Amino acid sequence: MTSTTVLITGANRGIGLELTRQYLEKTDYNVISTARNINNAHDLNNLKETHRERLQVLSLDVTSDTSASNLSLELKNTDIDILINNAGIMGGAHQEFRDMDYGDWAEVLATNSMSPMRITEALYENLKRSKGKVVTISSQMGAMGKEGAGRIAYRSSKSAVNKVMQCVAEDVRRDGISVMCVHPGWVQTDMGGSAADITAVESALGIRQIIEELTIEKSGCFMNWNGTEHVW
Ligand SMILES: NC(=O)c1ccc[n+]([C@@H]2O[C@H](COP(=O)([O-])OP(=O)(O)OC[C@H]3O[C@@H](n4cnc5c(N)ncnc54)[C@H](OP(=O)(O)O)[C@@H]3O)[C@@H](O)[C@H]2O)c1
Repeated sequence: MTSTTVLITGANRGIGLELTRQYLEKTDYNVISTARNINNAHDLNNLKETHRERLQVLSLDVTSDTSASNLSLELKNTDIDILINNAGIMGGAHQEFRDMDYGDWAEVLATNSMSPMRITEALYENLKRSKGKVVTISSQMGAMGKEGAGRIAYRSSKSAVNKVMQCVAEDVRRDGISVMCVHPGWVQTDMGGSAADITAVESALGIRQIIEELTIEKSGCFMNWNGTEHVW
């Protein structure tokens, strides 16, 4: 049986952890789950107890060039079929007009907008060998075609990553690599809060389905977790 290898960033909690769980339920998947602090990634380490053969837990701070190159070296001989750029931050409370923490904004942009491309570059050869898929977890909060205000640091970071990934999609099309941004829904995680619309289980189910359906012809799209196209 041929198996599919998926790498998920920020997989120690929230949507990333649930994606890890669901991919591990499918015996034809090998999962590489990354976390910036693997010693504290207790849920991932517990999963490793039962899925030693198919789960690799690796250290990755997505904002760090050194960390990205270490990952690249460690995985030199591993083909990657699916990269899920999931790691992200909301940023602090001060991100409104006339109440902006500019240092914090820079950190949000570094994490949410720049890191998905950094990790895609680090794993480019691995993705190229398998004509893989690059999926970036974006947000409806970054959609220019949707009304909404406030949380300027977070919103702008997701608008930016959408454009970044639209450009990357064109750059890697000739390699057969498909690229997609996904709004995962408003999800009950530490970031989404307990009042959110859907559970991480529902979100991850939807995300897995649209990843399955992604083709090179559809590359460069922005999708909702439920399979509908998202306005840019
Ligand atoms: N929840 C929602 O309603 C919602 C809606 C739209 C979009 N999203 C997006 O979905 C993605 C996952 O969100 P979530 O709800 O699962 O959030 P979460 O529960 O807050 O988890 C975020 C994950 O990202 C990791 N992370 C943050 N900065 C990192 C860095 N520099 N290097 C490596 N990992 C880092 C965190 O690691 P630590 O544990 O080390 O902090 C954590 O594993 C994010 O991109 C988010 O913007 C979420």
